[in-house]
Amino acid sequence: MNKSDSERIASVLESLNYRSAPQINGADLIVVNMCSIRQSAVDRVYGLINKIRKNKKIKTILTGCILKKDKKKLANSFDLILDIKDLPKWPQLLSINKTRPRCKEYLEIKPKYSNKFSAFVPISNGCNNFCSYCVVPYARGPLICRPHQEIIKEAKKFTRSGFKEIWLLGQNVNDYKSKNIRFPDLLKTINDIPGYFWIRFTSPHPKDFSDKLIKTMAECKKITPYLNLPVQSGDNQILKKMNRPYTVAQYKRLVKKIRKAIPNISLSTDVIVGFPGETKKQFQNTLSLFKEIKFDMAYIAKYSPRSQTAALKLKNHIPHSEKQKRYKAITEVVRQAALENNKKYVGKTVDALITESKDKFLIGKTDAYKTIKIIGPKKLVGNFIKAKIEDVSPWGLKGILIS
Ligand code: 5AD
Ligand code: SF4
Repeated sequence: MNKSDSERIASVLESLNYRSAPQINGADLIVVNMCSIRQSAVDRVYGLINKIRKNKKIKTILTGCILKKDKKKLANSFDLILDIKDLPKWPQLLSINKTRPRCKEYLEIKPKYSNKFSAFVPISNGCNNFCSYCVVPYARGPLICRPHQEIIKEAKKFTRSGFKEIWLLGQNVNDYKSKNIRFPDLLKTINDIPGYFWIRFTSPHPKDFSDKLIKTMAECKKITPYLNLPVQSGDNQILKKMNRPYTVAQYKRLVKKIRKAIPNISLSTDVIVGFPGETKKQFQNTLSLFKEIKFDMAYIAKYSPRSQTAALKLKNHIPHSEKQKRYKAITEVVRQAALENNKKYVGKTVDALITESKDKFLIGKTDAYKTIKIIGPKKLVGNFIKAKIEDVSPWGLKGILIS
């Protein structure tokens, strides 16, 4: 979502005749697009201040997901702190062009796409779920869904322009609603747009993952066999404290249903280790779940205390050294499962979208969102290829180009 926001910011600034500078020195304007999900990302912004402030002539703007507390603290370090939702007003606020018409909503701003093959299409902004550890409902505000007509129009424009992959983005795509259109309806309509392209999305909450969504994913050929299904913990008591309204058994049942309907699905998850009060036993429950499910990938986070959130007030915060130990233990389980899963690809032919070239290698993602590395010509960047897999590691596949 932040990456998509950055593309919108770049688009607004380009319309004001700004061009991106290769480095801070020599720039006229610095825009910092902040993420407050974890303290480490916030610390990076504080770390940037001295570097930015060395040259007093450069105008500086802070935007993105910013908590009230940081807004106050950083007020003197930036010339302007602007809400990302106010992006349509930036031209006026920057007092560059007072007459420029405003558009009504920031998600309607056409982004400056960072490439010509993969596009992010936000379907909503904000979240009403209030997981107890998460700042998003405070930093981004309540859920606002984009009208489905706008999303479909944007998707059609991308496919007509030859984009190969469309990512639908929302904090919880299952909360999407525009009149009587829900997320599966939106997927189906985009799938019916003529042309060969891939549809990916992130992220669905397990609490409201419907049978209709599973059926839609199984039936729609353009939806890739990859799913990020954030579990956050493998312990029922911790899930309750996280305000995640499902149990481990329900999550397992959901995975079973999804795998039955889409046998070749590759599954990733998000997990937080060291949530306040998480005992060794409760962490072991998470490890057991991971050993059982055998995820293809996991975004593992050490719990980061965030202001305004309910979890901050919980007792028994876990020391950093213990979080680190748990992080390492779960990484090892994911590594083993990912390697085991990837071995199934040896000797098979896969479809991939090439996203970059490095030296003589092409790098991309398969339909199952596995990183792939093959030898091939640079001109294939941005194209679909077929490759035969010869070797695998936990984090990727290597093969030879077939076509
Ligand atoms: N600490 C650690 N990880 C967090 N996430 C969200 N908030 C926190 C936090 N306070 C993780 C969750 C979420 C992902 C986007 O970031 O796993 O799914
Ligand atoms: Fe945060 Fe996602 Fe929970 Fe919303 S659903 S509060 S974005 S973790």
